Amino acid sequence: MGLEISEEKIRSMLPSTRYQGSKRQISPWIYENLRKLDFDTVLDGFGGTGSVSYLFKRMGKKVTFNDVLLSNYQAGIALIENDRVNLNRNDIKYLLHENGFDYHTFIQENFGEIYYLDEENKWLDTVIHNIYMLSEKYDGNLLRKKQAIAFHILFQACLVKRPYNLFHRKNLYMRLADVKRSFGNKKTWDTPFDKLFIKFTNEISNKIFSNKHRNVAKCKNILEINGGRYDLVYLDPPYIRSKQHTPVDYYDLYHFLEGIMDYYCWGEKINYTKKNKPLIKNKQFWDKDSVVTNFDNIFNNFQDSIIVLSYGVPGYPPIETIKELLYSYKNKVKIKKKAYTYKLNHSGKNGNKLYEVLIIAQ
Ligand SMILES: C[S@@+](CC[C@H](N)C(=O)[O-])C[C@H]1O[C@@H](n2cnc3c(N)ncnc32)[C@H](O)[C@@H]1O
Repeated sequence: MGLEISEEKIRSMLPSTRYQGSKRQISPWIYENLRKLDFDTVLDGFGGTGSVSYLFKRMGKKVTFNDVLLSNYQAGIALIENDRVNLNRNDIKYLLHENGFDYHTFIQENFGEIYYLDEENKWLDTVIHNIYMLSEKYDGNLLRKKQAIAFHILFQACLVKRPYNLFHRKNLYMRLADVKRSFGNKKTWDTPFDKLFIKFTNEISNKIFSNKHRNVAKCKNILEINGGRYDLVYLDPPYIRSKQHTPVDYYDLYHFLEGIMDYYCWGEKINYTKKNKPLIKNKQFWDKDSVVTNFDNIFNNFQDSIIVLSYGVPGYPPIETIKELLYSYKNKVKIKKKAYTYKLNHSGKNGNKLYEVLIIAQ
């Protein structure tokens, strides 16, 4: 891939996801703006569920995916690093059935009436334990990849069954309310987990491929990654609407998936004072008070790479500040704009136009 190619074709190449802030929808625009840049190796520093990393992989680049969340790291291993391992029929049978283990009941006991129905919580307790117990069948890197694929599939199924595809509220009632609906999500919400798991297995298995490079997945705070080794660094940090607003907090929105990644110790890490039982937060990965310094550190660290930043406008810090910071390290800073309203429709309501911006610094 390196030539002109239809928008729909690009989008459909990428795995589907309901992850907030995923760039899948605008991937053709990103592709169009980046395809002529001269680079072979790339770091996707805030990878999310890997849409842009996957685009780079398809473009034949040597990709390093990174995201600070363990649940997203699974997408990085399954889709970017992995180029041939898949789940076979026996794996799927093993994952979706009770195998005589002494199953834990953690989700059933702690998350009743919060996100899923009782029988769905039981299904989750079973399948999660089975994923961990894949260690009976495999080891080493093969186990790591099989588990990552299984977790990634599970997480996609978890997201589509949730109102807003998030875990920010105790709102199972929205699924159950007997009201007339103007949208079609109810059918997906009510689709059994088994069925969704199979659907995503089929989809994901077709997305696993080799681009002949050793691509890598990392799970680090971007501030802890050493620069200098990538031709291009792509950055898509959490959006901060304005100085008064906190950044989109992915740890909070997806705490349930992060809990699954720490299933056997989950109970010790929950904030039980909140109705939706999120994980206790003892650190902020991207906060507005240090955002300017963080950008400066990142730009400094990767000053030898082409830096490409996805940005929401209006946002904090203002784009002028970002440009100024970049000009301390780079000679050329280009801005590409696209009207786009996925981020916060309340801003749209005030009549403010929202733009997705791509800042390309060379
Ligand atoms: C806007 S999303 C990225 C979406 C991604 N480009 C995609 O298409 O799926 C921002 C991501 O940054 C991650 N993140 C937040 N703070 C981070 C940090 N300090 N280091 C690395 N990743 C971070 C979040 O977990 C979230 O997945």
